[in-house]
Amino acid sequence: MDTIIRNGTVVTAAETYRADVGISKGRIEAIAAHLPDVPGATVIDATGKFVMPGGIDVHVHLELPFCGTVSKDDFANGTKAGACGGVTMLVDFAIQSKGKSIMEAVEGRRQLADGRVATDYALHGGITDWEMAEKEFDSVVDYGIPSFKMFMVYRSQGWIADDGTLLQALDATSRNGARILVHAENDDAIQMLLRKYGPQAQELGAWGHAITRPDYTEAEAISRAIRWAEETHGRLYIVHMSTGKGNDEVLRGQARGVDVQAETCPQYLLLNEELFKGKNGHLYGTCPQLRHADNCRRLWKGLQERSVQVVGTDTCTFDTKQKAMWSGDFRKIPFGMPGVETMMPLMYTFGVGQGHFSLNRMVELTAANPARLFGMYPEKGTIAVGSDADIVVWDPDRQVTLSAANLQTNCDWSPFEGYKVKGYPHVTLSRGRIVAKEGKFVGEEGWGKFVKRRPGGTL
Ligand code: URP
Ligand code: ZN
Ligand code: ZN
Repeated sequence: MDTIIRNGTVVTAAETYRADVGISKGRIEAIAAHLPDVPGATVIDATGKFVMPGGIDVHVHLELPFCGTVSKDDFANGTKAGACGGVTMLVDFAIQSKGKSIMEAVEGRRQLADGRVATDYALHGGITDWEMAEKEFDSVVDYGIPSFKMFMVYRSQGWIADDGTLLQALDATSRNGARILVHAENDDAIQMLLRKYGPQAQELGAWGHAITRPDYTEAEAISRAIRWAEETHGRLYIVHMSTGKGNDEVLRGQARGVDVQAETCPQYLLLNEELFKGKNGHLYGTCPQLRHADNCRRLWKGLQERSVQVVGTDTCTFDTKQKAMWSGDFRKIPFGMPGVETMMPLMYTFGVGQGHFSLNRMVELTAANPARLFGMYPEKGTIAVGSDADIVVWDPDRQVTLSAANLQTNCDWSPFEGYKVKGYPHVTLSRGRIVAKEGKFVGEEGWGKFVKRRPGGTL
């Protein structure tokens, strides 16, 4: 063993117990009540701390060209930010360009990421041209990418998938074990509302974003995607779910036996649409948008009742300069916000701390379920002999006031500015190597590796 974490409380999705954890060459080698001393081994004192699998954020967009600019956290800094916040693996998206192959997008993303990432990462494919994607669907899965995002919106971006395309892709997943991640919003309804309210853009300000994407636009799209998954026996995952009505649709689909899983994000649990009325309301522009606070309550319940299975962040960082591109017109806001660095402290403080769920359930939502659903369990997502030593030693007593000024992200603002969290990473390890201490990055760019994943992932 080259590293021993001593006297901590190990927390997995299923268990909580006192143990030492021994690591050798990046993997967990032994777990026991007391491990013997090993000369030369690094010893991490975890007395009074939790030893948990590092977070796996399966929804990030690093250096994404989007809305006329490029998201500000790149693969190097995005993975560093994750490490500082207790996240040891990210999954980004390789979005196909029209008329081109998904593999071309994958190669492009790997060129940006390999040699620069500070922790491990993987990629989802992004399908924007099914005619091209269909031919390589199985081979991309074989390559180690068994999950694909499809968009029911973003017509002007050229990313939108129509129902027929969605139906065909879901049908294909029933045969090859891939999973389709759907961004569910009804584009036609949104376009109609944009035509209606667009002329009043300057008077409405950022509030225009709220009134042109009402909650039914998400719920309807979710119910439609579920219907297609039901008819095809396809494997569906709703990304960044933001509405209570959408959550009700997911619950109903699951009750009918549809393989539909859902993800929500800290911003949909903790923030609400009132922010659009403030001076800097445009900063919070994201798709789907922040909702009325009733939705937050319903989504916390979804995490509790197990209709929502994953917390991810949809990190897509735009700083104040980039957000200023809106010039008072809500239709021009670059959509997205930072998140990967604050997910774990927020979920611990407000999820566990406010009694929405247990710490085991937090591990399930942020590590075990992402690893299971996306084909990398038990190498990732748990503390077990043989698993990768992607570990966060969690200090439940550390109090931090979140502020962009003290975070690793390249963003100069935080949606959670001033939030007081209790519970923060003490040390983060990526495959046995210490990469962050007390919220500061101490690892190395290029340490992370691309992770190949298996199809058929399920809970
Ligand atoms: O506004 C967002 N969420 N930007 C990132 C792209 C997406 O739809 O996830
Ligand atoms: Zn999306
Ligand atoms: Zn996204």
